[in-house]
Amino acid sequence: MKLPRDEAAIRREWPGAGGYLNTAAYGLPPLSAAAAMRAWIDEWQTGRVSFSAWLPTTDAARDAFAAILGVDPADVATGASVSQLVGLVAGSLPVGARVVLAEDEFSSLLFPFLAQAARGLDVELAPTERLVDAIRPGTTAVAFSLVKSHSGELVDHAAIREAAAAASAMTIVDAAQACGWLDVDYWSFDFVVCAPFKWLMSPRGTSFLYVRPGRLDGLISAAAGWYASEGRNAYYGGPLRLAESTRRLDMSPAWPSWAGTTAALKVIREIGVPAIGEHNLRLANRLRAGLGLATSNSPIVLLPSVDAAAALSRAGFVVSAPSGSLRLSVHWYSSADDMDSALEILKEAR
Ligand SMILES: Cc1ncc(COP(=O)(O)O)c(C=O)c1O
Repeated sequence: MKLPRDEAAIRREWPGAGGYLNTAAYGLPPLSAAAAMRAWIDEWQTGRVSFSAWLPTTDAARDAFAAILGVDPADVATGASVSQLVGLVAGSLPVGARVVLAEDEFSSLLFPFLAQAARGLDVELAPTERLVDAIRPGTTAVAFSLVKSHSGELVDHAAIREAAAAASAMTIVDAAQACGWLDVDYWSFDFVVCAPFKWLMSPRGTSFLYVRPGRLDGLISAAAGWYASEGRNAYYGGPLRLAESTRRLDMSPAWPSWAGTTAALKVIREIGVPAIGEHNLRLANRLRAGLGLATSNSPIVLLPSVDAAAALSRAGFVVSAPSGSLRLSVHWYSSADDMDSALEILKEAR
C-alpha cells in the first residue's frame, strides 16, 4: 500500500514525534488539532463568540468517528471518557444481570460494572483465555478490551462475539487501544466505547459510544441535560424531552477538546485507518524482527525486561512500563529510523 504522506511530511505535521513510542498512554496531535485548540482558547478569551458556534464541532467529530468505524452517526453518542460511557451502559443493566469480564481488564471498563454490584449486578471474572468459556446461557453481557493496554494483545473478538451470540449475550467493547489503527467490524458489537486520545490522536475530554440499532431503548440517559434534547434548547423545566437518536445519551460537550478532536479525526480520515494500521504493524514488526521476536498483529511491542528503559529515555525515547514490562507503542508518526535507533539501544541493553 502506498502511504499518503512521506516521512518528512509526517515529521512536519507531528513535530514532537521523534522517539515517541507511548501512544498506548496518549497519542500526539497533528498540528491542525493543536491549532484548533489554540484557536478555541483565543475565541474564549475574547468572549465575543457565542457557545452555539462551538456546538457543530462535536457533531463533526461524531460524523468522522462514525465514518472511521463504518457505522451510522445516528448510532453514536458523545461523552467525556470511557469509564463515563461504560458507566452509562452498566447502570442501565437490570438487577441480576450477569456480566463476564477478563480478570485483568482495564479498570475503566471493569470498575463501572463492579460499582454496580451493590445494585445487584453479578460480575464474573475469568482469565482472558477462558473468557469464551465463561459466556454461557444466562450471561447478559460480555465486556472486553479489543486490544489490551498492558500487553497490546488483540483478543479473539470473533470467538467472543460468536459465543455471545450463541448465549444471547450482549457484547460491550472497549476500543480505546484499537480505534485509529485497527479496522474490524465494529458495527457487529452491541456497544463500542472509544476514547480518541490515544490512537485517534485527539485531546483528553472526548469519547464516543456506538450503540447497535435496537439496543438504544435499553439504555438510560443518565447524564442527559439540555445537550441531549432534540433541539439542544430544552433549557428549563420538564417534562423530559430527549433526542430521538443515540444523541439522547450525549453529555454536555467539553468545547476545547471537541475542537481538537474534530481536527484530529479529519486527519485520520485523510490518511485512512488501513494505511495507518499497515504502517504501524510494519514498523512494530521491523523492531520485533531485529530483536528475534515473532511477528505479531499489534503495534504495541512488549519486552519482558525493563532494563533498557533508562537508556531509551536518555536517547530521547518515550516509552512506558505499565505492568513491569517495557511497552513500545508504534504509531503513524513513528519512523523506520526510530525503530532502528531503538533497536540498537535495546540490543546493547541485553
Ligand atoms: C483499554 C483502555 N480503556 C480505557 C482507557 C481510558 O479510560 P478513561 O477514558 O475512562 O480514562 C484506557 C487508557 O487510559 C485504556 O487503555
